[in-house]
Amino acid sequence: MAKRIDVSGLSAYYGSHRAIDDISMTVEPRSVTAFIGPSGCGKSTFLRTLNRMHEVTPGGRVEGKVLLDDENLYASNVDPVAVRRTVGMVFQRPNPFPTMSIFDNVAAGLRLNSRYGKKELADVVEKSLKGANLWNEVKDRLNKPGSGLSGGQQQRLCIARAIAVEPEVLLMDEPCSALDPISTLAIEDLIGELKERFTIVIVTHNMQQAARVSDRTAFFNLAAVGQPGKLIEIDETERIFSNPSVQATEDYISGRFG
Ligand SMILES: Nc1ncnc2c1ncn2[C@@H]1O[C@H](COP(=O)(O)OP(=O)(O)OP(=O)(O)O)[C@@H](O)[C@H]1O
Ligand SMILES: [Mg+2]
Repeated sequence: MAKRIDVSGLSAYYGSHRAIDDISMTVEPRSVTAFIGPSGCGKSTFLRTLNRMHEVTPGGRVEGKVLLDDENLYASNVDPVAVRRTVGMVFQRPNPFPTMSIFDNVAAGLRLNSRYGKKELADVVEKSLKGANLWNEVKDRLNKPGSGLSGGQQQRLCIARAIAVEPEVLLMDEPCSALDPISTLAIEDLIGELKERFTIVIVTHNMQQAARVSDRTAFFNLAAVGQPGKLIEIDETERIFSNPSVQATEDYISGRFG
């Protein structure tokens, strides 16, 4: 469980456009790492290279290495589908399967795996919904459609679905940007609990959120529009927000950017 991520020399392209350039960093197990930086600097692109989702985009191509413990996710013998199980993802807009029940939404990934009997499936669904702090709100309506939940509940449903398959890493791309402040705090609390078990990487435009939830923060930037995004610095979150090493980080965090 909870493996270390070690990225080296990673660049990602859309066709001939290099969106991110030569990124190297490590992410420690059972920690939360926040990605911050201006729009277009490649945060989402980089996040998607960590579970081989980037290459799903037509023209999407990756150079460099992503090691999960000692295994290179881009080695030729690695199955990208297996990678996406191990490294789960939660998106900006909650995206429950609209025609499926709450139960089936959470069970979706598990059903691909025949080792689960009916009782076991129900147990894992309950455990995952509890893990996502949603169980109490939905336990009496598990057979109702997932799309009938509020936005914040739908996002927790998506988190339940992601953790049901017991990933080692959870990637979250602005998971709270479509949520109200109360649901946002609920998700932030949940992130604090989940990091006991998972390695979490979260993209956020909310500086307070990065400061509240993360142990380490990575700042990305781009020299000019059309230029590739680069990792400017990564450090303890406290350090990044109090005394960053690079002036551009300070400018961005204090809102003097642009
Ligand atoms: N599907 C795509 N096809 C072509 N170019 C893309 C695609 N998706 C993103 N890009 C380009 O890659 C660069 C990085 O985009 P990305 O979405 O990773 O940035 P971001 O940091 O996540 O921005 P935001 O904060 O707005 O979400 C941008 O120049 C963007 O236009
Ligand atoms: Mg993005």
